[in-house]
Amino acid sequence: MPIYFVTGGAGFIGSAFVRYILDRSPDARVINYDALTYAGNPENLKGVDPSRHTFIKGDICDRGSVASAMPDGCDAVFNLAAESHVDRSIHSADEFLRTNIIGTQVLLDEARAKGVRRFVQVSTDEVMGSLADDSDERFTEASPLRPNSPYAASKAAAEFVVRAARETHGVDTVVTRCGNNYGPRQFPEKLIPLMISNAMNDEPLPVYGDGMNVRDWIYVDDHCAGIWAAYEKGRSGQAYNIGARNEQHNIDVVRSILDALGKPHSLIRYVSDRPGHDRRYAIDPTAAETELEWMPSTTWEAGLEKTILWYKENQDWVEHIRSGDYREYYKLMYGSR
Ligand SMILES: NC(=O)c1ccc[n+]([C@@H]2O[C@H](COP(=O)([O-])OP(=O)(O)OC[C@H]3O[C@@H](n4cnc5c(N)ncnc54)[C@H](O)[C@@H]3O)[C@@H](O)[C@H]2O)c1
Repeated sequence: MPIYFVTGGAGFIGSAFVRYILDRSPDARVINYDALTYAGNPENLKGVDPSRHTFIKGDICDRGSVASAMPDGCDAVFNLAAESHVDRSIHSADEFLRTNIIGTQVLLDEARAKGVRRFVQVSTDEVMGSLADDSDERFTEASPLRPNSPYAASKAAAEFVVRAARETHGVDTVVTRCGNNYGPRQFPEKLIPLMISNAMNDEPLPVYGDGMNVRDWIYVDDHCAGIWAAYEKGRSGQAYNIGARNEQHNIDVVRSILDALGKPHSLIRYVSDRPGHDRRYAIDPTAAETELEWMPSTTWEAGLEKTILWYKENQDWVEHIRSGDYREYYKLMYGSR
């Protein structure tokens, strides 16, 4: 029975990835290690088969706790645990550096000590910085790492830590760099769930700057399939860009959500831009498509429809979060703009 150690499995992508593994490998067992920060939510794991899934609450920076949770000789470590929200990293970067860099080093050390077969680091396209508006350029695996936010800098540093573990100690590692994910269970402060929630409640939709920033969107389950393909077929030491060739201006994403919910565009409010806001991300996923034989299977239209439906049907999930820590945070970020 293969055993996989997944970190951050109570978060948005991590919980989808836990489901993905259990669905595609009927004999697999998952150990899900997560600190349950503001972004981790045990409700995200509702319905997951408890006979093949073990949840352990713990911090990836806590060496003793990681050592006792990670089984000897497990098949893979998938590191999805992270401080992940760029806006929060602008406000305060400390926790990003701690979790995303130190935590990754601790996991690598323990994976080596336990003889784990492969270490998969889930990174982001943001490590490669920003592309010009008026170019056809896309990020490839050869693009230089030029992070612009504290979040992206911490993820880029984590990639170097992963590289060093391979070069120095021979740990078998693979890195994935994906673009912006969307889908069910994404924390409501991120663009798509924020806009869906506000539109459903007839509240203003805050759009940074001129709304013309471009992001390359991918449905979360397609990202999970990409992580899995990198684990199964990726060459050791390689990074793979995962993207669905789906570039969208932020303002178009917001308009599509309003249209899908039958709400007026007059709900849009432009607010002052985020400092260091990257202008455009665009991913060239050729290596993943050819070497990993990976292809996304959800179109933007179908994915957005599924996502909106999920938020409509799970308003209690959103309300739960909106009534707590999130409400204070929301005031801090948007209250004075
Ligand atoms: N969301 C995206 O669009 C996107 C795109 C590309 C890559 N990624 C990467 O994918 C991963 C998952 O992103 P997400 O959007 O699901 O994030 P998320 O914020 O929803 O979830 C992160 C999870 O990590 C846990 N965590 C945080 N600090 C921890 C610590 N010190 N120890 C243990 N657990 C901790 C949280 O409790 C949470 O469950 C991250 O590594 C992120 O950098 C995200």
